[in-house]
Amino acid sequence: MALIFVDTANLDEIREAAAWGVLDGVTTNPTLMFKAGTANRKEQTLKIVDIVQGSVSAEVISTDAPGMIEEAREILSWSDHVYVKIPTIPEGLKAMREISSWPNGRINATLIFSANQAFLAAKAGASYASIFLGRLDDAGLDGMEVVRQTRQVFDNYGFGCAVLAASIRNTVHVTQALLAGADILTMPFPVLKTMMHSPFTDIGLQRFLDDWAKISAK
Ligand code: G3P
Repeated sequence: MALIFVDTANLDEIREAAAWGVLDGVTTNPTLMFKAGTANRKEQTLKIVDIVQGSVSAEVISTDAPGMIEEAREILSWSDHVYVKIPTIPEGLKAMREISSWPNGRINATLIFSANQAFLAAKAGASYASIFLGRLDDAGLDGMEVVRQTRQVFDNYGFGCAVLAASIRNTVHVTQALLAGADILTMPFPVLKTMMHSPFTDIGLQRFLDDWAKISAK
């Protein structure tokens, strides 16, 4: 089963997506908190948890391992639904190694741009490897190829780490990530909305309703 997350800290968007009954979780980051207009990471994260009752990722701000570990201890204590996002840099790997030894060490390794980084994050004990495929595409590279390679590497060696397709820009990315075997897809709310849309569905539904109205009026 592939999981659907929305990549936003906007509560209205999260409420609407959750109401559709297909939302499994939410990913946030400092930029998304900024867009939602809040610097209260704990309060916003707990409001999100309250809505989705599923996996919610909140990111550390520290860039050194001791600082990340201290922040992770606090973030993970907020709720059993919370995953701590750790950047995939050398200090981040040190932090992941330590945090993953805790009973509640749920880690979302973030800012991954290669299968090698994903491999290292998995070795360090991450639960999710977040591949920023859209940013690779923006730079003229093939982000989906990194998703495919990571899937293959994790399967070759039996890593339990989930392949998380992140930085999704459009519905084509969604289909491609599903075909590439991503375990989790996190997308902006407008992309989730667009997944539901086909003019043929609207036209077809209207025709059914019109024909039914005609026959009922007889
Ligand atoms: O979850 C990762 C995501 O927030 C990055 O997306 O759109 O900033 O490249 P974007």
